[in-house]
Amino acid sequence: MWLLLLLLGDAASRCLHDETQKSVSLLRPPSSQLYPNFRSSFLTLPENHDPQPLRIQTCYIGDLGSEGVWDPEEEGIRRQARAMAAVKVAIQRLQGVLAVPPVQGPLLLSRDPAQYCHAVWGDPETPNHHRCSLLNPGYKGETCLGAKVPDAHLRGYALWPEQGPPQLVQPDGPGVQNADFLLYVRVAHTPKCHQEPSVIAYAACCQLDSEDRPLAGTIVYCAQHLTSPSLSHSDIVMATLHELLHTLGFSGQLFKKWRDCPSGPSVRENCSTRQQVTKRDEWGQLLLTTPTVSHSLAKHLGVLGVSLGVPLEEEGPLSSHWEARLLQGSIMTAIFDGAQRTRLDPITLAAFKDSGWYQVNHSAAEELLWGQESGLEFGLVTTCGTDSSDFFCTGSGLGCHYLHLDKGRCSSDPMLDGCRMYKPLAKGSECWKKENGFPPGAENPHGEIYHSQSRCFLANLTPQLLPGDKTSHLSQNPSLKEEELTGRCYLHQCTDRGAYKVQVKGSPWVPCLPGKSIQVPGYSGLLFCPWGRLCQTNESANAVTSPPVSLSTQGLLFQLALGLAAPRGYTLETEQREELIEVVLQALGSRAGTSRCYFHSPSITANLMFTVHMWKSPGCQGPSVGMLHRALTLTLQEKPIEVYYGGVSFTTEYGKLLATPDPNLSRMHLSLPAGLCLLMLISVYVLGTVAYQKRATLQVGPSPSYHSQVLQGRRGSAGGIREV
Ligand SMILES: *[C@@H]1O[C@H](CO)[C@@H](O)[C@H](O)[C@H]1NC(C)=O
Ligand SMILES: *[C@@H]1O[C@H](CO)[C@@H](O)[C@H](O)[C@H]1NC(C)=O
Repeated sequence: MWLLLLLLGDAASRCLHDETQKSVSLLRPPSSQLYPNFRSSFLTLPENHDPQPLRIQTCYIGDLGSEGVWDPEEEGIRRQARAMAAVKVAIQRLQGVLAVPPVQGPLLLSRDPAQYCHAVWGDPETPNHHRCSLLNPGYKGETCLGAKVPDAHLRGYALWPEQGPPQLVQPDGPGVQNADFLLYVRVAHTPKCHQEPSVIAYAACCQLDSEDRPLAGTIVYCAQHLTSPSLSHSDIVMATLHELLHTLGFSGQLFKKWRDCPSGPSVRENCSTRQQVTKRDEWGQLLLTTPTVSHSLAKHLGVLGVSLGVPLEEEGPLSSHWEARLLQGSIMTAIFDGAQRTRLDPITLAAFKDSGWYQVNHSAAEELLWGQESGLEFGLVTTCGTDSSDFFCTGSGLGCHYLHLDKGRCSSDPMLDGCRMYKPLAKGSECWKKENGFPPGAENPHGEIYHSQSRCFLANLTPQLLPGDKTSHLSQNPSLKEEELTGRCYLHQCTDRGAYKVQVKGSPWVPCLPGKSIQVPGYSGLLFCPWGRLCQTNESANAVTSPPVSLSTQGLLFQLALGLAAPRGYTLETEQREELIEVVLQALGSRAGTSRCYFHSPSITANLMFTVHMWKSPGCQGPSVGMLHRALTLTLQEKPIEVYYGGVSFTTEYGKLLATPDPNLSRMHLSLPAGLCLLMLISVYVLGTVAYQKRATLQVGPSPSYHSQVLQGRRGSAGGIREV
């Protein structure tokens, strides 16, 4: 299986199609009669067949030769470390997901007779019929996708005379302890990496056990991508997981080997070969039709009880990816657009259950949002352009990617067969990346906030003008026209499953009613609250670390408390306080550019603490009280107010700015600036779009000729082995 990661530019239109056909032969253990195990381990302990977490052992295979030329040593070590770190995380992840009846004793891989043997005894009358009669002098051992398999991992081999005992050439190796699957890892500049500079990694399975469960495979990382800043660790982990899932059984070449094991993988005697795994429907669409997968898709689409095959991508006679129109965001689609947007989904896990080789922990699945509850017609070429589902779009306007992490443009890619969806823009569209935001002081005309907890919302918000605000040049442009709706980044916070609120720059938190549009205090225009997309898991509700503030937009009541600094020893008489209050209020009003109608019940204590309640009285013109409060807070922090009264100068000290009545509100104002910096930063960034695509189909068939190097694409003629 050839699974490639393609790094695409801003559009997925550069998807390349590889003509090169490669082949890897899938080896199974030899039948003990024909290729006896030289260890003759007939006496074994009673076997434990209860499924245990899949044990994947890895083996890094250094590339000699060309590597030295290409890779300065230090960089090579860095790449190796990066690859191995990703492999480790991916394997850990799978351990909680897949379980198998453990391999008993050390895992020992098979040799390919077609490689080491030039000819076998063909006469059925001879006792050593079928056994190797002539060795291939050029045999250099086994490789798996260019990785040289150590002899220690391999069974031995022998030369057989026409009659009598064999002549041992190489004994069995010690094998690998505690392993159910052996993953060879290479970091290389292979010809494939050169031909397709966008390929990040590819993988293949090379060996199967007697039940056809994959036992060994290789993942090749194209070296240059491991030091590329455009891929985060999470991206490489996700790409590794994708490749690993291919080698473990999600492969067009392995589908036909899946087994039907109604009693689970441990009761092998109850397993049978599946009658049908894939089929083509009447429109020629290739489907995976096994029961758990079909049920899982029906459940996903909300059409339980309907028997559905799951469409596979059109990739030639074999296909190893889900159809992207239907299962966008699944880890097993052919186009991968960043770890952030990729899920180890229930339908993929169902496929592993249906392989018959694994016991699957279905609770490890991550929710797939795309197409959820969208019905039978979802994702068809005939329906995606008809506005029947808001997962798809028409035209080429701007909006939000369906996960709302990114702004997007309505576009297509070769896997979407003409359907269009909002795809992340090439650069700077991630709302969750703080660095995409506006630098301090820059104009932020729509009050956007870029933050790890920001999401994309369809909106056309523009700030309401502060009357008398002469610094705003928007006020010189009085005829504000209605802005077009587009994707904008605003802070969100889950309040419950499916429920959330949003914050726009300077506004208070506003409850967002999924499926409705809302107004935001201080802004004109609307913000649309997506339904069924945000805060869908309890997990994301917990992930929010900002204080649990709940505010209704009506009845907002803020309190402003300011200390006033006066010359030492100054005391205020009661009647003087009333006058000073007026002076301070005037100064506040003029700083805010608003009238007195926001300020209520002012007071000053003997030790010069000024407090005032803020709310917007009926008929009061201007911004929301929340916005005004925020603006005042900021401006007073930056520049105190100085007032003169009775020949004395008083300066505001930025001390406390409190909002009442909710006691949480005081925490909000004190902790928000810090919170903005410290909230869980999702430290993942992806430049452009990454895609992996299955390139060419693999054939199980005649083994390549001796010495043929799979990776160099020399395709051998059928091997010299004579088989019956
Ligand atoms: C199954 O997955 C869940 C969620 O990832 C995990 O908490 C649990 O430990 C897993 N169970 C097993 C047996 O690994
Ligand atoms: C295997 O299948 C048979 C026939 O369906 C059934 O009677 C038996 O209980 C199964 N074995 C186990 C261990 O499930």
